[in-house]
Amino acid sequence: MALLLILLPVAFIFLAYSLYERLRFKLPPGPRPKPVVGNIYDIKPVRFKCYAEWSKLYGPIFSVYFGSQLNTVVNTAELAKEVLKDNDQQLADRYRSRPSARMSRNGQDLIWADYGPHYVKVRKLCNLELFTPKRLEGLRPLREDEVTAMVDSIFKDCTKPENKGKSLLMRNYLGSVAFNNITRLTFGKRFMNSEGVVDEQGQEFKGIVSNGIRIGAKLSVADHIPWLRWMFVGENEDLDKHNARRDKLTRMIMEEHTLARQKSGNTKQHFVDALLTLQKQYELSDDTVIGLLWDMITAGMDTTTISVEWAMAELVKNPRVQQKAQEELDRVIGSDRIMTEADFAKLPYLQCVAKEALRLHPPTPLMLPHRANANVKIGGYDIPKGSIVHVNVWAIARDPAAWKNPLEFRPERFLEEDVDIKGHDYRLLPFGAGRRICPGAQLALNLVTSMLGHLLHHFTWSPPPGVSPEEIDLEESPGTVTYMRTPLQAVATPRLPAHLYNRVPVEL
Ligand code: HEM
Repeated sequence: MALLLILLPVAFIFLAYSLYERLRFKLPPGPRPKPVVGNIYDIKPVRFKCYAEWSKLYGPIFSVYFGSQLNTVVNTAELAKEVLKDNDQQLADRYRSRPSARMSRNGQDLIWADYGPHYVKVRKLCNLELFTPKRLEGLRPLREDEVTAMVDSIFKDCTKPENKGKSLLMRNYLGSVAFNNITRLTFGKRFMNSEGVVDEQGQEFKGIVSNGIRIGAKLSVADHIPWLRWMFVGENEDLDKHNARRDKLTRMIMEEHTLARQKSGNTKQHFVDALLTLQKQYELSDDTVIGLLWDMITAGMDTTTISVEWAMAELVKNPRVQQKAQEELDRVIGSDRIMTEADFAKLPYLQCVAKEALRLHPPTPLMLPHRANANVKIGGYDIPKGSIVHVNVWAIARDPAAWKNPLEFRPERFLEEDVDIKGHDYRLLPFGAGRRICPGAQLALNLVTSMLGHLLHHFTWSPPPGVSPEEIDLEESPGTVTYMRTPLQAVATPRLPAHLYNRVPVEL
């Protein structure tokens, strides 16, 4: 009875408010929201696919309610341009769920910051200091070390007599490259030794990452129904404990770097050194420095693994494409040396393979949620201030109105038409576009292309014994980032002389 007395007025307020909004604004159409919960229980787990289906029912722009929170989803390149170019500034705030708000201390980092003076300052720091072509080039040996370490470890595993003809779980190898690359880039640390054993600090780091994912993944009902939040106080404690653990490890690493710099007088290329030396000039709080370092980890680790895993699945499924990429590598590199990033310019087909994989399988298919900081119009509809806006880049990249045979994995399409992948062509937006475009896009492209190039130059890849290429499962798992539902298994057969499989380690 008491619950009913609470819920009835709540339902009444919700109905009155949605009626008021409907009369005041011309909102995009969409599924009818239920009182209190809105459409939360109508959304299927793989959200971007559900939205792509809904766009056929309700049109390319539609409304969907999380509780009473209005969300707008756009599903065509034209509408994406209206969001990310014509109304870029008004739609550049972020929606922060409770976990992301608490973990980012209300947007004191970059990813979760609203558009404003803090964001502009931190973004400028990223563009002018962290992701410059010079720093990317300076960090190249580190990436090449990790990619060759991957080749070395795949070679050792697939040539063991007991593994002959057996398939490998690709995600293990790709995940190690992404993990080592990001920890070295941000913290200047390789937590993993040459045998693949992770040290104590690395175990703590891994624990923090997986705990962060666990907390972030809980799409708690209370997040969208503010008046139920009091029921979830325990979650706040969890989040505070998580933050304390993350800050402790990060401060320890920051201190190690400060001591090393004082001792040697040298500033290294890693982000932690860069941020500590720029902290005063840019007036960054410790929370912002820690927030930025963890932003790079959360945004840059899984996305890389995911991109390469999908690309390899497509290459195993499409032996014609695999062979064509290998022929290019053999022609340009030959078989008495290994590929480096300096070879990219002479490997256009390889670059198209990476692009085509990112088209069909964008790791963040709905980008990250933007929020309107003013009333705007998109596609002739009102988007009231405070609405959350999602761009369904997955649906756009498969729109038959924008692409010929969109579901076909055909890298040649990019040889026939040069389509920009870094925010200038609204049909292809794996990194987003506009002022919130991914700052790590070039770094990610370099690493993904390098991993693919090495995997293809060194090995031929085929499905596990008894599995035909057609049987490889290309379904997605739910989540903000889109892993393959069934992790890819593939058989590696070496194709170069044995001495070219050794890791090329560097100390940076
Ligand atoms: C293939 C790999 C990657 C993909 C597909 C990707 C994609 C994206 C997308 C779609 C966004 C959101 C854009 C928006 O909201 O409008 C984003 C934001 C971001 N990405 Fe990436 N990313 C990748 C790799 C990386 C890497 C390697 C780093 C850094 C080391 C990074 C750092 C960031 C940061 C800091 C943001 C937040 C930008 C902001 O809010 O202003 N990303 N990324």
